[in-house]
Amino acid sequence: MLLVKLENPWKQNPWFESVAVAQRRARKRLPAPVYGALVAGSERGQTVGDNEAAFRELGFAPHVAGQHTERSMATTVLGREVSLPVLISPTGVQAVHPDGEVAVARAAAARGTIMGLSNFASKSVEEVTATGAMTFFQMYWTGDREVVVQRMQRAHAAGAVGLIATLDWSFSVGRDWGSPEIPEKVDLRTMVRMAPKVITKPRWLYEFGRSGEIPDLTAPNLAPRGADGTLGSAPTFFTAYYEWMTTPPPSWEDVAWMREQWAQISGTPFVLKGVCRVDDALRARDAGVAALSVSNHGGNNLDGTPAAIRMVKPIADAVGHDLDVVMDGGIRRGSDVVKAVALGARAVMIGRAYLWGLAANGQAGVENVLDVLRGGIDSALMGLGVSSIDELTPDHVLVPASFHRALGTEATDAANP
Ligand SMILES: Cc1cc2nc3c(=O)[nH]c(=O)nc-3n(C[C@H](O)[C@H](O)[C@H](O)COP(=O)(O)O)c2cc1C
Repeated sequence: MLLVKLENPWKQNPWFESVAVAQRRARKRLPAPVYGALVAGSERGQTVGDNEAAFRELGFAPHVAGQHTERSMATTVLGREVSLPVLISPTGVQAVHPDGEVAVARAAAARGTIMGLSNFASKSVEEVTATGAMTFFQMYWTGDREVVVQRMQRAHAAGAVGLIATLDWSFSVGRDWGSPEIPEKVDLRTMVRMAPKVITKPRWLYEFGRSGEIPDLTAPNLAPRGADGTLGSAPTFFTAYYEWMTTPPPSWEDVAWMREQWAQISGTPFVLKGVCRVDDALRARDAGVAALSVSNHGGNNLDGTPAAIRMVKPIADAVGHDLDVVMDGGIRRGSDVVKAVALGARAVMIGRAYLWGLAANGQAGVENVLDVLRGGIDSALMGLGVSSIDELTPDHVLVPASFHRALGTEATDAANP
């Protein structure tokens, strides 16, 4: 008797062709509070909306013949060689996927790019560097100086090859669409209470069930070190957030101090993330940073801050010759990357795009996102008739009048007396 193995004809191809498709799959797969935490912006969402919308205002003027057969997008940024100008921005990916940042790091390593690891991450810096990814450890200004140094030492000992100091956070509360619920810890009672939200997401439950782990919502990289040098248990997300909230905000002297400490501990690049103003970019340069990211924290910080892409050119013009300017916020396709590089960014960092890929298909989903962006960059380079991202200039982009926002300059100060 001939046995025919029937394939399920409706089985979804896990590969996706665009970041938008990955986002739709993430939305379908994740419990509402987890998906909500990924897309959230602060307040009325003006900034998170503008981050993406601003890219739509920028255009191209493609050639019809004479394009190059070979096109290159490999570059050097933050002292590292990367195969494309797209880096992983640090995010706490609690509860998106059981492999969390380890899966993201493996994907970054597989695709030859830098992994930014959040201090609020669900996996430890040791687990992440063990993947072989070029790991930049990200820190907020939280805890006292001794604690900051201890955390730097731990990241260095684990093999981190750079530090990202993220200082743009103003503790805004209140989102017009409601904040997602984040439980203090995931115990049985929480599971029962949140059951209606997760029971309809069998794939997500299955992934966590298979891994034998439930999302624990702790911050292992912020575990305290005892007097004898041993590492204590990881604080809950809320304990960690409370420490951060109650730490006095940093001064520019603190930034210079942080940079100096990292230089002594590691000697690898120090990146300041969250710069929006030209005057702050100049101060960052004076504080000796190796790189900065023009960023508004993906629209999660002070709502009303312009889209990150609007602030890139004025900042790159001011300090781009002295240090690496990267940007993050609103990158959803390869052509967005090309626009940002043309306007002066050395590379971009992505946040939500890879989180959606992770939710949709784990490590392979993050690789898929990086491949989608790579394909889009290549296509845009071809259309523009350039053979390398190094050839890109602002003239390759159609920029409407009043697009750029030069914050913290005499021009804006005069416009806003
Ligand atoms: C869910 C989520 C968590 C984030 N957590 C952090 C973090 O822990 N540290 C940090 O420096 N930035 C964090 N960010 C900001 C990202 O690093 C990045 O600036 C932002 O996501 C870029 O915008 P995009 O999501 O439009 O790409 C987070 C962003 C999101 C969406």
